[in-house]
Amino acid sequence: MSIIDKYFRNINRLRISVTDLCNLRCVYCRPESGLDLARHKDILTYEEIVAVVGHAVTLGIKSFRLTGGEPLVRKNIEYLLRMLGNVCGVEDLAITTNGIYLKNYVKTLREIGLFRLNISLDSLDDSKFEKITRGGKLKDVLDGVEEVLNLGFKNTKINIVAMKGVNDDEFGEFAKLTLERDLEVRFIEYMAMNKENLAAEDKYIPMADIIDIIEKNNELVALPSPMLGSGAAKTYKIKGAMGKLGFVSAVSQPFCNSCNRLRLTADGKLRSCLLSGGVVDLKAILRNNPTEEQLTDAFIRAANLKPPVHSGKGHVVMHQVGG
Ligand code: 5AD
Ligand code: SF4
Repeated sequence: MSIIDKYFRNINRLRISVTDLCNLRCVYCRPESGLDLARHKDILTYEEIVAVVGHAVTLGIKSFRLTGGEPLVRKNIEYLLRMLGNVCGVEDLAITTNGIYLKNYVKTLREIGLFRLNISLDSLDDSKFEKITRGGKLKDVLDGVEEVLNLGFKNTKINIVAMKGVNDDEFGEFAKLTLERDLEVRFIEYMAMNKENLAAEDKYIPMADIIDIIEKNNELVALPSPMLGSGAAKTYKIKGAMGKLGFVSAVSQPFCNSCNRLRLTADGKLRSCLLSGGVVDLKAILRNNPTEEQLTDAFIRAANLKPPVHSGKGHVVMHQVGG
């Protein structure tokens, strides 16, 4: 079976936030202090997550990504990954991480057979990185990235949230990371989404301007966008480079009409859209001895809550939905 929503989108990916905790407090994601975090008993157990994934594959959802908060801060995350790797029908298992703990996990991730990694990295300058992340150490991430490349992971993405006056002077340098590395360096339009970062709306740079900045010093070649699994990025290559550049234009050119995913929050809500649309309380169903039909129904309801196009600014609390 497969899930086709009201707007003929085939829903075949699920993003799973495994925790709302994070070891960083990036300026565009979290307030400087204080945060309403879910209580432990409200967080889905690993067994529950595996049950959700086991059911999702029967509905044609074959591609999964773990996010947070920061997924690597959840205790024994490798146990979950190992179990997910063994669920029959899982065709793609990826993780989005801030990279701080990555170097301790790369080998395990390789052993488990994790397919893909997205690593957030918003500056290549130590002190700027520390400022943006409110305390992170750049070297931890860079060591992790090198280790990932050494171990031969393919399709690794580096995610940069483009911020005017913060890291726009580094776009060229970021792009040059792809010259000799098999990486996709992805620039993400800054989304002003919640009360923590609405004030920073002036930091937004549209994709076209990001590309202009990079093109000043580099010759870019557009790459064909694959029909499937491309996510949301438009991709280019610096002429002769080993890796790619990607641009995610969620704000200037929403890609809602090809959005094929649902999101599961750490506390078990199936979210139909990052920015708008409704949620289905999957946890309540999971904890009440559900039948297969009830689980299927929850997914279909969530898919049908997907709006045709997001409403621009939602009031999403990013740390709960994991980017
Ligand atoms: N704008 C754009 N991207 C964001 N992310 C988190 N908050 C924002 C925001 N306000 C994305 C970043 C980060 C990932 C975890 O989520 O890409 O790397
Ligand atoms: Fe943590 Fe990612 Fe949010 Fe930064 S963007 S605070 S790394 S969850």
